[in-house]
Amino acid sequence: MNPLTRRRLLQSAAAGMALGGLGLGRAVAGGPQTLRLGVAQAEIMPGLPTENIWAFDQRVLRLRQGEAAQIKVTNALEEVTTVHWHGLRIPHAQDGVPYLSQFPIGVGETYTYNFTPPDAGTHWFHPHCNTLEQLARGAAGVLVVEEAEDPGFDADAVIELRDFRLGSDGQFLEFTRARNAARGGTLGTIITANWQSETRLQAPAGGFLRLRLAVTDITRVFRLAVAGAEAKVVALDGQPVDSPMGISPLPRADGSEPEVGPNTWPLVLGPGMRADLGILMPGPGAEVQLRAGLPGGREIVLARIAATGPDLQRKMFQMPVLPKNPLPELDLDKAETLDFTIGWSPEGDAGTSGICGDAPYRFWSIDRKLWPGEGPPDPADPIAPLATLERGKTYRLRLKNETQNDHPIHLHGLAMRVSSPDRRALPPHWADTLLLRAHEEREVAVVADNPGDWVFHCHVIEHQKTGLAGLIRVT
Ligand code: C2O
Ligand code: CU
Ligand code: CU
Repeated sequence: MNPLTRRRLLQSAAAGMALGGLGLGRAVAGGPQTLRLGVAQAEIMPGLPTENIWAFDQRVLRLRQGEAAQIKVTNALEEVTTVHWHGLRIPHAQDGVPYLSQFPIGVGETYTYNFTPPDAGTHWFHPHCNTLEQLARGAAGVLVVEEAEDPGFDADAVIELRDFRLGSDGQFLEFTRARNAARGGTLGTIITANWQSETRLQAPAGGFLRLRLAVTDITRVFRLAVAGAEAKVVALDGQPVDSPMGISPLPRADGSEPEVGPNTWPLVLGPGMRADLGILMPGPGAEVQLRAGLPGGREIVLARIAATGPDLQRKMFQMPVLPKNPLPELDLDKAETLDFTIGWSPEGDAGTSGICGDAPYRFWSIDRKLWPGEGPPDPADPIAPLATLERGKTYRLRLKNETQNDHPIHLHGLAMRVSSPDRRALPPHWADTLLLRAHEEREVAVVADNPGDWVFHCHVIEHQKTGLAGLIRVT
């Protein structure tokens, strides 16, 4: 029996979408799936519909682990695009990076992606063309890869966390400012959960809710906590953690600026990152909140989850255990160490051709090298990789952030094992996006098991687009 028919699948209200069919939480479909990226309207600010939203017609896509997927993407925008499947370890040809793995999908064209997701978990998808504007206007979705066997949560829900940068009339403001791009990035004005300032969900009282959080924002680092229930982090970036990490119920209440740490804001997710929480819902009628901390000590409620129905009376020790994904075996004894420096750019305001959406500045770099952008490659001057990895070998990547900003560093195609101690006290885990804090140095390990030229970039998109990107080649 399909586990989704047994389980109560949670759906948020259609997030105020004025356009029909922007579905959330549709069940896994057999056969080919379709995605359409087009222009829509949405009511992010009540009563002030935002025009010129660019959105996929499905904001949650469900696939099944180990089953071949075929996704037909129709580009109904007035400009070219591609779709990248962030977090999926799939063949390079399906990775959705313009010119590197495919030609952009032309206006009005349909392009079919074919892959079999090896890893279950919470991933996401987004364009990799003119990424700053396309993502800022809404083009992203959460990609849920269901486990081959249902792990047995009583409910499953998705929360997409992102900002919209809207003026008081509800319309988009400029997405980037040079002075911000050279610093932390340009923040949105409205913080949303499932495109609402406060989203409402339900889950069975006394039952286990699997809450999938995905940060699809281009800039904001979310500092999160759960109030009103016991919660554990059961997966990060889609990969089950070795031992679920309890997260404390509430940050400090004295109004002081919350420090990042195990007893304050227990969960910090930067752009591109995901976390699955296992939440033991309270008794009937009670409410669980997902809260976020903002600079200046302010707190907001992003989601309210009502406990409904008869009390299932589960106990914390009965929390379902997520099965491990087929990740490669690390051979750390023989691993070579590669150093990468995240820093300023030697070029300042040198622009590039900008065919697939580049900014006219170069503020950042990896190893002081310039990323030539997402335009058509010049055969006479191909992009040189930052490093070339030999297939099958294990490498330690040492990332040094010499800047005073945070950088969520994302690697396509390979999983990174994060084990060095850090300020957030996360246990060792696998990730595809590592939040490198200001002046921090971190080490990750990878097994070069997936051949191709993989993009390695900051997921603060203004940083990516102004130089913080490179290639890692696996031969
Ligand atoms: Cu999520 Cu290269 O991106
Ligand atoms: Cu990616
Ligand atoms: Cu960055």
